[in-house]
Amino acid sequence: MSAHFPSNRNILDVLGIIFLSLCLAGVPCLALSAGGRDCLRAGDTCSSDDTCSPRLRTLRQCVAGDGSVKLGPGARNQCENAMTALLSTPLHGCQCKRGMKKEKNCLSIYWSLHQSVLHGLSLVESYPYEPEERGSDYVRLASIAAESEVTTVNRCLDAAKACNIDETCQKLRTEYVSACIQPSARSGPCNRPKCNKALRKFFDRVPPDYTHELLFCPCTDTACAERRRQTIVPSCSYEDKEKPNCLAQLRICKADYVCRSRWAQFQYDCQPSEQSASGCKQENYGACLLAYTGLIGSTITPNYLDNSTSNVGPWCSCAASGNHREQCNDFLTFFHDNICLSE
Ligand SMILES: *[C@@H]1O[C@H](CO)[C@@H](O)[C@H](O)[C@H]1NC(C)=O
Repeated sequence: MSAHFPSNRNILDVLGIIFLSLCLAGVPCLALSAGGRDCLRAGDTCSSDDTCSPRLRTLRQCVAGDGSVKLGPGARNQCENAMTALLSTPLHGCQCKRGMKKEKNCLSIYWSLHQSVLHGLSLVESYPYEPEERGSDYVRLASIAAESEVTTVNRCLDAAKACNIDETCQKLRTEYVSACIQPSARSGPCNRPKCNKALRKFFDRVPPDYTHELLFCPCTDTACAERRRQTIVPSCSYEDKEKPNCLAQLRICKADYVCRSRWAQFQYDCQPSEQSASGCKQENYGACLLAYTGLIGSTITPNYLDNSTSNVGPWCSCAASGNHREQCNDFLTFFHDNICLSE
């Protein structure tokens, strides 16, 4: 997506250099770091600085693995010092762009600064992805639970037609459909990783005006709803004979920087709130839908649960969760019973 904003990037470069110069000159950089600096660039800038570079290296060692390694008091102290020092560099407040080149590398830097081991030091509520800058017309068009909107036209069919006319949408849709229905000799009936990769590409690269209209079009009958449910080719992208345990799936998700980030973003953007008119704490339904599609093609891919409702959720169950039952139900509730997602 970075290619869409060439001039912005140049401005960011210039600003970045100014920020860095100020920081090096001893001016506190905390206030300067909020505005859209990507972690990959911030990491590069840091690596070429003799003071910053060893601190970042230390921090990355501190959070190696899943970050749950217990650190001794000495190491912990060192880690906290490195972390504190890095908070006054452009790394503080850095984010990544969804679908960007080297997204995983960028996110690994982001998470170095946001690991749970050092939780006491993570300052504000934060989320890994920069907000989308494009217009949000699609918010008007899209709605997960728009059954009440009885229309004479078939919006789902119109959405498919619209996608066929747009070059990128048509191309990437064809790509994922063929990746998801093509049987592969080696991995059985379908190649799930390939299918999911193509799905992620579709939802990361095609403007939401098209993708959201396809996936969230309103349906009044089961044929339409079934077609909508089939949009992401469930039989290949996530369905299995048995539903795995949700927490096990979430654990796999969190071990992957991209999935972990998509999940964190979804939790942030789709956080429900009884107090707000939209049902969303962030008051941005468009951002919530965008975060939702960010999960498609991951271990916790959500989809419509059936062809008679607009309920959505991932393919997993909380049976056999032992004493983590409540935690597991909280996870499912975030999809099944989320007023932000369904309003
Ligand atoms: C709706 O789902 C049911 C159960 O999965 C299935 O038997 C039925 O054929 C579906 N309806 C349509 C119209 O596809």
